[in-house]
Amino acid sequence: MQQLLTQDRDWLEPWEATTPGLRTVVNARWMISSLRAQARRGTGYGFVILKDGLVVGQLNVANVQHGSVSSATIGYWIAKSTAGQNIMPTAVALAIDFLMDDVGLHRVEIDIRPENLPSLRVVEKLGLRQEGLKERFIHIDGAWRDHKIFAITAEEKTGSMLNRLANTRSE
Ligand SMILES: CC(C)(COP(=O)(O)OP(=O)(O)OC[C@H]1O[C@@H](n2cnc3c(N)ncnc32)[C@H](O)[C@@H]1OP(=O)(O)O)[C@@H](O)C(=O)NCCC(=O)NCCS
Repeated sequence: MQQLLTQDRDWLEPWEATTPGLRTVVNARWMISSLRAQARRGTGYGFVILKDGLVVGQLNVANVQHGSVSSATIGYWIAKSTAGQNIMPTAVALAIDFLMDDVGLHRVEIDIRPENLPSLRVVEKLGLRQEGLKERFIHIDGAWRDHKIFAITAEEKTGSMLNRLANTRSE
């Protein structure tokens, strides 16, 4: 993970969350331990994406809220050398199925910069609904950036997301 995050800096940096006033340091060990702490508290889940047994990316579930909100937000990245193989739409489909069918959440959200065309394709392939634009929503790559908000609620998920993905791909 550390090796991928380091070698793919130019590929990942334009889309990575940053903290205002702090220089970003790549530290996979710290990130993994923070994700494990979130998982213990039930506020987040961290997944690695494997291809042929090798780590090629990551999918994080953050802002997990139960009860009257029952929602979570998904974020993701894949190694540059592995992009364009439909891996992330598949990973997101599996994550939404897990979050709704196993964890019991009602809503899953994905926030994307309008400039991030590959990521917009991911949510398009999965048929997520666009809810609107949040201006200057998240600090990314050193500045506050607008984000398009995409979501799906349990009422819209008829069957498995993997099947939905397979159907949109064959259309
Ligand atoms: C966004 C991202 C996760 C997509 O993952 P993926 O597994 O490549 O997804 P897909 O295979 O469905 O490809 C999505 C689109 O990327 C584009 N794409 C394909 N190959 C590509 C490549 N080698 N390099 C860049 N973009 C490529 C295509 O437009 C593709 O759409 P298409 O399948 O209709 O042709 C990946 O591009 C990525 O990690 N980017 C950097 C980090 C990032 O943007 N994270 C998301 C923040 S919201």
